[in-house]
Amino acid sequence: MRKQLNAGVIGLGILGRQHAEFLHRRPAVRLAAVADVRKPVAVEVAALTGAEAFDDYAAMLRAHTLDLVVVATPDHLHAAPTLAALAAGVPNLLLEKPLATTMADADAIYDAVERTGARLFVDFANRASPLDIATRYVIQQGLLGRVVYGEARLDDNITVPTQMWGERTRDFAGNSSTAHFLLSHVVDLLRWYFAPAEVTEVYAISQQAVLGYTPDLYDAFLTFDNGMKMRAKAEWIKHIDELVEFYLCFSGSEGTLIYNKRNGFACDEGWRANVRAQLPLDELRRHQDALLARGVNVASLVHRPTPTTGQLSAGGGQTALALEKRGPRHGGTMALVGPCIDAIIEGTDEPSSYQGNGPLPNHVDGLRQTQIVTAIIDSARTGEPVALG
Ligand SMILES: NC(=O)c1ccc[n+]([C@@H]2O[C@H](COP(=O)([O-])OP(=O)(O)OC[C@H]3O[C@@H](n4cnc5c(N)ncnc54)[C@H](O)[C@@H]3O)[C@@H](O)[C@H]2O)c1
Repeated sequence: MRKQLNAGVIGLGILGRQHAEFLHRRPAVRLAAVADVRKPVAVEVAALTGAEAFDDYAAMLRAHTLDLVVVATPDHLHAAPTLAALAAGVPNLLLEKPLATTMADADAIYDAVERTGARLFVDFANRASPLDIATRYVIQQGLLGRVVYGEARLDDNITVPTQMWGERTRDFAGNSSTAHFLLSHVVDLLRWYFAPAEVTEVYAISQQAVLGYTPDLYDAFLTFDNGMKMRAKAEWIKHIDELVEFYLCFSGSEGTLIYNKRNGFACDEGWRANVRAQLPLDELRRHQDALLARGVNVASLVHRPTPTTGQLSAGGGQTALALEKRGPRHGGTMALVGPCIDAIIEGTDEPSSYQGNGPLPNHVDGLRQTQIVTAIIDSARTGEPVALG
């Protein structure tokens, strides 16, 4: 039998505890140690997983030779444990998103990874959700024609920045923002869906009227090197029933994709790509089969839309083609962790469990994400567009 990966987790809050439990259940991994500055939390997670508990990650790194370290500390505290693990010679790291909240931290992590030759994955978990895989597939296959515009809004319930982390909430939210916590997901998804397109300019606004200790929202416009323009917006002041609302829409020269990732407030979850009308039917079915083979349950649709409101009709009536979600959404915060472990074991960037979905997000993607998020914050502060190299 192949040797198990000796793993440790640093930061055992909402996400870190999930990581510890996930790694503990994974046959290819032996969870050796867990660390949290809150000792009782470390002891509790250790009791659940059979790992050794530490309240100091430096002591953990001295006591154990680890093949993999997961870092799940609050957004602004990713750099110190990551740099310590790299300095201790840990060859594989998995960091919670965002990579960092400052360019100084992001550059330090990037440089240390390059210097040590270690592998660092960032847990942009949406990249493992089937309907995000389908979104990337449709865009990469050109089924919408040339995408020229899109919008993505990812909003949290106001209870996230006011209550989610208990007495630690103000500290977490005040040292982060909707740009770091939420738009990091969005900018990573956009770079992944539309690869190899890169963001070249950012213009953004923010509002600071309700929360006080952190901006209420960021609303950003991103220009890509292929001319595409995207709006990316994230709020922390929504009085909604659900925890999260996440909506994406992309307009191409020949098609439109709408992806309502979360239900709530009378909106159902949904995913539909209205694709190029000229696509031969057997090709539409081939794309459906390709997605089914990746575990994405979509149907091919051939229909005749006739857009109307009351007495008004806007034409239509032509045969139109689409791919539409059939199965339920899967994924979740641990969905990308399995492929990352497989990538370590297989020594590849695109393991067998993630074939066809592009390389897993690494320190380069994390650096780029931090550059874009930092540019969003700078633009909102100065009122000026920010160019990215
Ligand atoms: N991938 C996703 O979809 C997703 C979803 C939610 C959160 N996150 C990210 O996960 C990270 C953690 O978020 P969370 O909600 O679990 O936060 P959390 O505050 O619940 O957990 C962080 C933990 O780190 C501990 N900690 C702080 N400083 C430490 C140190 N120096 N050494 C050891 N432990 C330390 C805290 O005591 C706490 O237990 C954040 O970066 C967040 O953005 C990712």
